[in-house]
Amino acid sequence: MVIEQKDLSEMLETAIVAARLAGQRAMEEINYTKVSEKNATELVTQADTQCQKIIIDRIKENFPDHGFIAEEGQFGKLFKQPPRGDRAIWWVIDPIDGTNNFAHQVPLFAVCVAAMYKGEPIVGVIFDPATESMYTAVKDGEAQLNSRRILAGEEDINQFSSIGLDSHFESLGGLPAWIYEIIHRTRFRNLGTTALQIAYVAKGGLIATIVNTPKLWDIAAGAVIAEAAGAFVSNWQGEKIFPMDLDSYDGAKFQTIVANKKVHAEIVELLKK
Ligand code: IPD
Ligand code: CA
Ligand code: CA
Repeated sequence: MVIEQKDLSEMLETAIVAARLAGQRAMEEINYTKVSEKNATELVTQADTQCQKIIIDRIKENFPDHGFIAEEGQFGKLFKQPPRGDRAIWWVIDPIDGTNNFAHQVPLFAVCVAAMYKGEPIVGVIFDPATESMYTAVKDGEAQLNSRRILAGEEDINQFSSIGLDSHFESLGGLPAWIYEIIHRTRFRNLGTTALQIAYVAKGGLIATIVNTPKLWDIAAGAVIAEAAGAFVSNWQGEKIFPMDLDSYDGAKFQTIVANKKVHAEIVELLKK
């Protein structure tokens, strides 16, 4: 079964509406939402669950037989509902990326909605409700910010350029040597939201973002947007992350680099240190 341009446009429109509705709800809730501990390292808020329901309900109105992988399931697990149609399309959702910020009333977070087909992200939407910034793309299309084209930059590593980093390096047993080099050679950043960091690479604000523990919903929407903007998306070895098997996906993490074309190879080399 082929996915036509018309199908992509319909999915994109649905993703935009769903992300906007969820983002509006999140902004209403940010100063009031109930916060709890999801596990030893993560918080979750009532708004995460509410926003996820808003997104899934909205998508189901248009695409009742599509599948879902979303961050907030029961008992701290992911939510997964396989597709039932003849075209196995999965929606991959992070209702609030940046929950730790959100839970502390810091409005640096984003709503992420992606559609995936044959293991590849084909539609991506990242919505930053605090600045009303809607980042969108479909596979092989144009990356846009609020309907205007965006492109990843060509800036190299220098004392004025910024690289976004993860906040989690515990799994590596401490900070790797290359982090010190990035801190010394660039204006490093950690915004507490991987999705927005990827969106910023797509619009040329960051030259790269390097993350250690993202899950599928942190990177799926951003991958389409960043690639459509001309950036490279890879694992730390410089290899492609997609396609991946979604039937068996159970919350695995993918060390990811999203970088402008000029610095991608250099960053892959740097990460070997
Ligand atoms: C988190 C954010 C954060 C990253 C974590 C993610 P969440 O997502 O993207 O920047 O460091 O690894 O889990 O939990 O806020 O959706
Ligand atoms: Ca996330
Ligand atoms: Ca989240």
